[in-house]
Amino acid sequence: MDEHDLIRLRERMGDQYLGRRLHAQVTRILYLVGQGRGGFHYENVEVIMRLLKLLLRVSGIQAHGKRNALDLQVRENRVVLPTLPPALEGIRIAHLSDLHLDGYPGLGQHIAHTLADHTFDAAVLTGDYRFYTTGHYDRVAQELRALVPALRAHAQRFGVYAILGNHDFIEMVPVLENAGAQTLLNEAVALTADDATLWLVGLDDAHYYGTYDFAKPLRGIPPNAPRILLIHSPEVIPEASAHGFELYLTGHTHGGQICLPNGFAPLKNAHCARRYIAGAWSFNGMQGYTSRGVGASGVFARFFCPPEVVIHILTRADLGHSETR
Ligand SMILES: [Fe+2]
Repeated sequence: MDEHDLIRLRERMGDQYLGRRLHAQVTRILYLVGQGRGGFHYENVEVIMRLLKLLLRVSGIQAHGKRNALDLQVRENRVVLPTLPPALEGIRIAHLSDLHLDGYPGLGQHIAHTLADHTFDAAVLTGDYRFYTTGHYDRVAQELRALVPALRAHAQRFGVYAILGNHDFIEMVPVLENAGAQTLLNEAVALTADDATLWLVGLDDAHYYGTYDFAKPLRGIPPNAPRILLIHSPEVIPEASAHGFELYLTGHTHGGQICLPNGFAPLKNAHCARRYIAGAWSFNGMQGYTSRGVGASGVFARFFCPPEVVIHILTRADLGHSETR
């Protein structure tokens, strides 16, 4: 990230939020090298990850877990938004979360191939591009260059939008934007068709950085205009509902990533009720979807929790439910 990038980030986020985020990034590095304090994040604790990898290896299921992690599913989720403008009826939004792209060589191309036969009008990436919570972005950038142009080729109508997750430093923004994904830093973008508008609001991470800001992007949006929220974790649901969002798209939990045969997730990894950690849900009339994620973190393995890309199909009329594939 050069001086020009930094100036642009100051203009976009404001000194207060950018300063808070940079301070939190330094705190995170200090915590990881044992000099600071911070929240417990299981993927950061090297000894636990080493034990988990060893356990998978000695039990002979490591290869099985890796195969599961590459078994990317594409699901459709029908969302009824009564305020959706008629010109946007049937809009298809591909939702990719928790890509952790440097977790497996060629993952970007693997995702692009999986989506090759699917159609969508926009793509949204809800954070976590890096496998670890610190470290360089070279391999992430390489995988993004394989993935984002392919997403843009599908999403020609409205484009590709991204937000940051708790694995992403602010330095990730130029990496994403150079690959072709417009990154929303407490910002809003209008998806327009004819004279109709649907607003997409992307907030910064709430889970670790806490530098999300509802007020700033909402200032430019008319009071009753339909709006969709992109935020990395399902941890500000009541706030989003109070701000009039009709759809909350999120990830972070990986749906548990390593689950029991009945699908129960021993680690939910988010400060929210269990009903919000995977799949479709609703809160006070606001609908939401928590993606199980595309990649994996900590260890590149999944059990009883397949990775997914979800194509949300927005409609004004209820023709029956949901997650069809
Ligand atoms: Fe993640």
